[in-house]
Amino acid sequence: MTKIISIDKDAGLKVPDCVEIPFIEGDGIGADIWRAAQPVFDTAVEKAFNGKKRIEWLEILAGEKGFNKTGEWLSDASLKIIEDHRVAIKGPLATPVGRGMRSLNVRIRQELDLFACIRPIRYFSPVQSPVKAPEKVDITVFRENTEDLYAGIEWSSESEEVVKLTAFMKKELDTDLCSTNSIGIKPISPEKTRRLVRRAVAYAVEHGLKSVTLMHKGNIMKFTEGGFRKWGYQAALDYFGDVVVTEKDLWETHDGVLPEGKVLVRDRIADMVFAEVLLKPEEFDVIAAPNLNGDYISDALAAQVGGLGIAPGANIGDRCAVFEATHGTAPDLAGTDSANPCSIILSGAMMLDHMGWNKAADLVRQGVATALGSGKATIDLAPGMPGCQEVPCSAFGKIICETIRTAS
Ligand code: NAI
Repeated sequence: MTKIISIDKDAGLKVPDCVEIPFIEGDGIGADIWRAAQPVFDTAVEKAFNGKKRIEWLEILAGEKGFNKTGEWLSDASLKIIEDHRVAIKGPLATPVGRGMRSLNVRIRQELDLFACIRPIRYFSPVQSPVKAPEKVDITVFRENTEDLYAGIEWSSESEEVVKLTAFMKKELDTDLCSTNSIGIKPISPEKTRRLVRRAVAYAVEHGLKSVTLMHKGNIMKFTEGGFRKWGYQAALDYFGDVVVTEKDLWETHDGVLPEGKVLVRDRIADMVFAEVLLKPEEFDVIAAPNLNGDYISDALAAQVGGLGIAPGANIGDRCAVFEATHGTAPDLAGTDSANPCSIILSGAMMLDHMGWNKAADLVRQGVATALGSGKATIDLAPGMPGCQEVPCSAFGKIICETIRTAS
């Protein structure tokens, strides 16, 4: 019997009952949070399926651990293992500053074409938050992961390339840019917008959510961000025309009341989104955004519900998916067994959902909620939670396991 996930063209992922899942422990706090997280996944799967399903973990060496053991930070063979297994989970990987090394995280996303960065953001009581009603936030961000200003096409002020480019633009395009400018190129394409928005609307439909908001700055950048808006609407209507209602239709045809079972697709200017997620977060279910807007809004929303230590994330493409803690390696906490393991644990819940093991995923999420609700938390959250007992990373993982084991 194979232990490897396969993809069926019609039915989606085919996951064997005993499945092999690759993991990258990660640098810095990676070892601590992974040691806390893995038993949580095993406990949830055991409890959800009475031992009929299980995960066999396959370690992929990457980052500093990989370099120390194999001389490579991230080998092509490791990427191939992820691609072949379709699903993987990873802790944070450090990007050494000033050594000219490309971020390993960016390499994983680009080489595996993981085009959708998905960040579900919700509040866990009684975590301290800077806003009055953080429980109103239950928003999933779909951030395009492969283009926009992150495509890496830029040149520094007065470089040979900028001198050539500004001269060419003056001659051929009648622009008047000075070569003292640094220049970055912002590519946004219909193909990449369409596949991202298709995923975002599919997610809303599958989860019975009411709205998808296209977040853009098309009032200023008419062809790039404005293109995202235009192609986003087209994709929503082309792929989901029978369930999607645009804001125009909502008022012209439905008197402003969204019919049961339909998904409202609307767009908002990026700066307005930042205001509205603070003022009326309950009006947002899914936000689909180009790379830069998506980067900003996902961290802002994570802060709104109490911080990065608990926000999970996934990078998903057509070939495979990598689930990951959204924070970095927290070098200040490395090896101290004090980091918060919730981000990777909740990313694992997303992975279980992706595999169709939703019962186990729900147990993981309930386990985290119950553990935090019991007045115990790690060093990043405990000081802001009145009466809360600070516990180490490993102990917090054990508390979650225990709440899952005893869940009715
Ligand atoms: P960071 O997220 O590692 O740390 C920022 C602050 O948050 C620190 O004070 C840290 O102690 C705290 N923190 C982060 N995660 C925490 C957790 N789970 N529990 C408790 N406190 C936590 O960001 P920083 O310092 O900018 O980056 C450090 C390294 O991580 C860099 O090399 C960076 O490239 C890498 N990085 C990797 C990411 C990934 O693998 N996806 C994402 C972000 C950064």
